[in-house]
Amino acid sequence: MKVSIYGAGRVGISVAFSLLHYGIVDELVIVDIDKNRAEGEALDLLHASAVFKYCNIYAGKPEDTKDSDFIIITAGRAQRPGETRLELLADNVRIIKGISENIVKYSKDSLVINITNPVDVLTYFIWKFSGLHSSKVFGTGTTLDTARLRALLAKHLDISPASIHAYVIGEHGDSEFIPLSNAMVGGVPLTDFCEKCEKKASDTIPCISFEKIANEVKTAAYKIIEKKGATNLAIGAVTAKLIDSIWKNERRVWTPSVYIEDVYIGYPAVLGRKGVEKVMHLKLEKDEKEKLEHSKAVIRRAIKEIEA
Ligand code: 2OP
Repeated sequence: MKVSIYGAGRVGISVAFSLLHYGIVDELVIVDIDKNRAEGEALDLLHASAVFKYCNIYAGKPEDTKDSDFIIITAGRAQRPGETRLELLADNVRIIKGISENIVKYSKDSLVINITNPVDVLTYFIWKFSGLHSSKVFGTGTTLDTARLRALLAKHLDISPASIHAYVIGEHGDSEFIPLSNAMVGGVPLTDFCEKCEKKASDTIPCISFEKIANEVKTAAYKIIEKKGATNLAIGAVTAKLIDSIWKNERRVWTPSVYIEDVYIGYPAVLGRKGVEKVMHLKLEKDEKEKLEHSKAVIRRAIKEIEA
């Protein structure tokens, strides 16, 4: 299996490092305008591969990405403290335009996963610039936010995240939200579960506040960026798991940024070897539908600004 990663920054390297743990990659190419950095990271990773499965890891040029199974895009300017993901847009559109042209030239049969922010808007432009089918181009969307939500709920409920089926959907950004009507814990609607939870009566353990959790999920990146300058480990882990599940054709439901109507947006979809194999149809409450429409409008506006 061949994976090419554009961007040797913290996110790109975290994806690569997490991916090594799965022992599924044979060739890993790292492309960055800072060649020295890419070479240093590639060497470090190559040595690490000795304790997983040996993998031919090297810093390459766009032509070295030829015939990749996966192209992972992480290149772009990073978010500054306090800056929204949308404020990054203009700079990063320029960067991903060049990358999209390389994808068409060297790897038009690969699955393209974009991570660069603002992820929904940029995934749309990668799809546009590359001309590839929308099932082959998707973004990490709200997969990380969904992981954050499940981790926070797991901590509160003391139940494995694997048994918590709750999603964050919409823009990977300030307008994202949790459709609570669809959140389940072991087959029980989350709201019912909490209603009957024995913790509710306790003074020492605060009862769950969905708003607080939703806000923690939404502001997680701002908080981490303020404290350590960037978020990298969780997105690396989530993306690696995503790639592994696609490669093994597990057909899991993730919340990638997928093409719906006229925008790319985080929404539950089945990912398999062919890419986006099915977009789910969530039954949403009225207010949730409004939130989703609002989120689409935010993304649409950003797309229009660039297209203008
Ligand atoms: C994150 O949510 C910054 O999009 C990045 O961690």
